[in-house]
Amino acid sequence: MMNQAAVWSKVDQYIAERLIEQDVILDNVLTNNQEAGLPVIDVSQAQGKFLNLLVRLHGSKRILEIGTLGGYSTIWLARALPSNGQLVTLELDPHHAQIAAANLALAQVQDKVEIRVGEALQQLALMRDEGVEAFDFIFIDADKPNNPAYLKWALHFSHPGTVIVGDNVVRGGEVLDENNPDPRVIGVRQFYDLLAEESRITATAIQTVGSKGYDGFMIGLVTR
Ligand SMILES: C[S@@+](CC[C@H](N)C(=O)[O-])C[C@H]1O[C@@H](n2cnc3c(N)ncnc32)[C@H](O)[C@@H]1O
Repeated sequence: MMNQAAVWSKVDQYIAERLIEQDVILDNVLTNNQEAGLPVIDVSQAQGKFLNLLVRLHGSKRILEIGTLGGYSTIWLARALPSNGQLVTLELDPHHAQIAAANLALAQVQDKVEIRVGEALQQLALMRDEGVEAFDFIFIDADKPNNPAYLKWALHFSHPGTVIVGDNVVRGGEVLDENNPDPRVIGVRQFYDLLAEESRITATAIQTVGSKGYDGFMIGLVTR
């Protein structure tokens, strides 16, 4: 009998083999990330395609991503954009951003994507000062302690109809523990509290299992 985590991984593999087209470029992106020593904390293949489908279902033209890493989710998102679509992705670590830039070029989506390097909170303030337009789709996947601040910025850069997705909002169930001292758990719990009291967004969260363990996505729609 396989343990639970092994079953989740095998089922992810089963899903990918049947529903996700073979993609040498995305395989190479993950290899590049590994060779460059990046942490293996990108979304899974099934989650990447899920994000891609969400963008296509929504018809988003402008995407903001907070947390680039090596650009794996960025590529899934960028590929869902129409030819005139644009994606801005924010990354703190210059090494991650450098690997991501090479990966985006490999996937030939570099013309649609701007990587902004630095603290996301500083970049977001700069973007406000530059008068950057609202986004149709916002993916929050960076440092979880800042999730509440990212949600406030996401609302700043949204319009009625913007979709906001947040990753890792279940954390193996740790989100239940109000005394958990982990700043990531605290950040995610504050994220829920903010969502609960924010009248401009209607949201839910879906628990997920798979090759990345037990976690979940928050998905919200900005209504006004
Ligand atoms: C979970 S990874 C992103 C994974 C990526 N979205 C994917 O699925 O391929 C989080 C990224 O956020 C970056 N990050 C962490 N703190 C940050 C901050 N304060 N500002 C901007 N980026 C940050 C990390 O360096 C890391 O590359």
